[in-house]
Amino acid sequence: MKLEWLVRGLPGHPLHPPLTDLTIGTYAFATIAAIGSKVGISEHPAAHAWWIALVVGLCATALTATTGFLDWIGIEWGSELWKTATVHMLAMLTATGFFLGAVFAGHHGYTAGTVSTGAFVLTILGFVFLTTGGWLGGSVVFVHGMRVLNLVEEPAERAAAPVPEREG
Ligand code: HEM
Repeated sequence: MKLEWLVRGLPGHPLHPPLTDLTIGTYAFATIAAIGSKVGISEHPAAHAWWIALVVGLCATALTATTGFLDWIGIEWGSELWKTATVHMLAMLTATGFFLGAVFAGHHGYTAGTVSTGAFVLTILGFVFLTTGGWLGGSVVFVHGMRVLNLVEEPAERAAAPVPEREG
């Protein structure tokens, strides 16, 4: 087994995409909970859920950003793929900054069971950048085809099995 597979995932089964599901899902839940608290749907429990979900999202981001970075450093510098991936990275780091800011700015409100207006704005801004970054991540994979094997005729049992294929 190659050491690289432990940190980047197997060919056809990279590590970054499944971790992005966890991260984006957690931040999306936090954003929905913040809105729920602000509009008065279960205000206090939703405020608690919002803040805790942001912290979980930040923890998940550490793994997600690390695996993304390990793939990013292998891209040819200055290429069109590199440009898209780099803007994706900047959007995701900006989103992370806003969510981190919301955690600090919103801690006092969280202990009182509310989402402060400042922390709410930071959360919404974070979600806007997260969505933009997710769109660009989709461009990296589904437009540029990064880490896609595209073995259309691969037998189903081999496609599902963790059999390493060569990546282009
Ligand atoms: C909050 C952090 C991040 C999130 C939520 C995120 C999300 C995504 C998403 C949704 C995709 C498309 C994959 C798919 O549709 O399944 C993607 C791909 C990608 N991202 Fe990120 N990303 C994050 C951080 C980063 C960082 C910091 C970098 C680079 C330093 C990076 C580099 C890449 C690369 C190279 C790909 C192409 C697919 C791959 O390598 O597995 N990402 N990302």
